[in-house]
Amino acid sequence: MSTFQAPKGTYDLLPPDSATYLAVREAIAAPLRNSGYGYIETPGFEDVELFARGVGESTDIVTKEMYAFETKGGDRLALRPEGTASVLRAALEANLHKAGNLPVKLWYSGSYYRYERPQKGRYRHFSQVGAEAIGAEDPALDAELIILADQAYRSLGLRNFRILLNSLGDKECRPVYRAALQDFLRGLDLDEDTLRRAEINPLRVLDDKREAVQRQLADAPLLRDHLCDACKAYHEEVRELITAAGVAFEDDPKLVRGLDYYTRTTFEFVHGGLGSQSAVGGGGRYDGLSEMIGGPALPSVGWALGVDRTVLALQAEGVTLDIPAATSVYAVPLGEEARRVLFGVVTELRRAGVAADFSFGGKGLKGAMKNANRSGARFALVAGERDLAEGTAQLKDMESGEQVPVALDAVVSTLRARLA
Ligand code: HAM
Repeated sequence: MSTFQAPKGTYDLLPPDSATYLAVREAIAAPLRNSGYGYIETPGFEDVELFARGVGESTDIVTKEMYAFETKGGDRLALRPEGTASVLRAALEANLHKAGNLPVKLWYSGSYYRYERPQKGRYRHFSQVGAEAIGAEDPALDAELIILADQAYRSLGLRNFRILLNSLGDKECRPVYRAALQDFLRGLDLDEDTLRRAEINPLRVLDDKREAVQRQLADAPLLRDHLCDACKAYHEEVRELITAAGVAFEDDPKLVRGLDYYTRTTFEFVHGGLGSQSAVGGGGRYDGLSEMIGGPALPSVGWALGVDRTVLALQAEGVTLDIPAATSVYAVPLGEEARRVLFGVVTELRRAGVAADFSFGGKGLKGAMKNANRSGARFALVAGERDLAEGTAQLKDMESGEQVPVALDAVVSTLRARLA
């Protein structure tokens, strides 16, 4: 134990559990890579205004949860609380949208920061894998993203998740609905804070988790009944495409997301085993975001899946991923000469693509074999003076216990064959 601990709301990813996190990231990324999405990486911090304008001045993320700071040079920056605004900023800055191949499809994986009240599934430093498809208005693109997230979760073996789907309308129909909702909210018995929210961002009130508020919202007007014809038709097509792909979803007319940039399609992946932080992923269309951050009109859609919560969901379902042992061969030298020879063999094995490790620190046979066991290696390669004199090493199958001598110059080819 040192004098220091991980900061509040954060945790360290350590082996062997960290392998599960890597596997989850990989499983979410795989269908994206397979569907024309290119990898993008952006800085961990951005101009604070990018998030204020993009995510929304009145959102919790911007007003309460941002790690904002001023640099020594006087720049006002913030650790990124989410990825969409950054990815769009980067795409615009590099003129990816002008290369003539829209939509620009990008995926990313990284750390995000929100100063939230920590609890299970809610951290101040967390990890997302996300996808953004920039510059096309096409219901098939919305459907593609939902289908790919579903595919990713299923490939991990998750079953108890649900997809909630809604449309938030566009700049034609949302203002009309907003006004109707505000009228309704003004007539309710709400506290000052909530009334203020109703004036700034009435849709967020629908998301209020308190029982007393929810009860009053039972008869609230729904956006579903106020969608313009274009939004209605768009949404219907998204629903049909997802249904045709065999992906089950639930219409949730009260689904609003915690970020202000959404238009039309919005969705959330929720998992029953996570308690109050049930959203494992979410996303939607953000047709106005580009203009909000000074770009041209670029209708876009995307999602981000939380890696931390996906791992919790796997645990809740009792799913253990089939993660191959990191080490296939563990070399155990007995004596100085064997140490030099086997170290050379391990180097050769690694260069030949065989995952190999070595007993460091001059341990005796017993201690070294214990480590070989712990490493999960399929084979141990043991050599002492007598073996070396005969130009061999002992290859021990850690599963069957069977041990055979192998000529030193045939170790690599033998192991490649036996591991194939
Ligand atoms: P979000 O819903 O804010 O959306 O975050 C997406 C996912 O990140 C959540 O469903 C959750 O799994 C995870 N997450 C968020 N906050 C935390 C936290 N404090 N601790 C642990 N996990 C967390 C976005 O970030 C949008 N950028 C998604 C998007 C992409 N929309 C369009 N494109």
